[in-house]
Amino acid sequence: METVVSGIRPTGELHLGNYFGAVKNFIQMQETERCFFFIADYHSLTTHPTPENLHQNVKRVLINYLAAGLDPEKATLYIQSDVPEVTELYLLLNMNAYLGELMRVTSFKEKARKQPNNVNAGLLTYPVLMAADIIIHKAAKVPVGKDQEQHLEMTRTFANRFNRMYKVDYFPEPQAYNFGQELIKIPGLDGSGKMGKSEGEGNAIFLSDPPEVIRKKVMRAVTDTGPTQPNQPKSEPVQNLFTLLSVLSSPDTLAYFEEQYNKCTIRYGDLKKQLAEDIIQINAPMREKMLQLEKDEIYLRKVVTTGAEKARESAQKTVREVREIIGFKSF
Ligand code: TRP
Repeated sequence: METVVSGIRPTGELHLGNYFGAVKNFIQMQETERCFFFIADYHSLTTHPTPENLHQNVKRVLINYLAAGLDPEKATLYIQSDVPEVTELYLLLNMNAYLGELMRVTSFKEKARKQPNNVNAGLLTYPVLMAADIIIHKAAKVPVGKDQEQHLEMTRTFANRFNRMYKVDYFPEPQAYNFGQELIKIPGLDGSGKMGKSEGEGNAIFLSDPPEVIRKKVMRAVTDTGPTQPNQPKSEPVQNLFTLLSVLSSPDTLAYFEEQYNKCTIRYGDLKKQLAEDIIQINAPMREKMLQLEKDEIYLRKVVTTGAEKARESAQKTVREVREIIGFKSF
């Protein structure tokens, strides 16, 4: 059993693309590994220093992940800011993190360009905090997307540097757990690219979308004027709809519409109607769970307090040992 850590940005609702990507992966990992999943609310201050609805965002994300199937009985599920030990490790790691290397991080350069009036030290040391998140549980595996590769490389640098500086073999080198090829890419409804909430209104279907919203979004999905010859290659928007069918609908449904397409008798409206109903079926239990969780403050509180307890137990052990290694001693 390996220790797995991953941080979740507290940014809004999960969509089907998230669900069939990262979230399904978390759900699988929690069955076999020692998992720590947390909501990275400290990190969100690097871009939103005076958040308007920090708590609300954290709560939404928590509810979404619970509804999607993260199980607090199996994984340790916590809020980053409930584990202050991470800030102590962050401070200690900062002493061995250098301005030059931090300034070269791509995400820092990007953010500095995007928010020139708020190039704060937290932004600069974002990778140090992320390293602290990971090595505080001595994680071996970090399930993250490609965009986090460089941050993980920094984590390895800081872990190795700690070991070298204090002449210990204490922190393991965490590796990215890249579900890469197996990962299902869910296309968006706007005819190009993948599903994403920043791609514009109507491109993404959220787990929290009610049936009527799902129907509306799917019916508005981009298509083309239809095939004019048998077995005609599909345009990108139409291929996207078939990809959605292949993931979300039954093999029979997919085969039926493939045949209709190839015979040039397809009616995209029928395909969309079917697709919408199949999405509604998949979403229904999760949406129901969300509505139920929203009302259950007691349960949510129990989840986060239990999660924090378990995470702190692991974090306190690491911080105690790290302090010892560095040479802090009590009188
Ligand atoms: N940086 C990650 C993101 O933007 C979030 C994150 C913070 C994280 N700490 C982490 C991911 C630790 C994995 C491990 O998505």
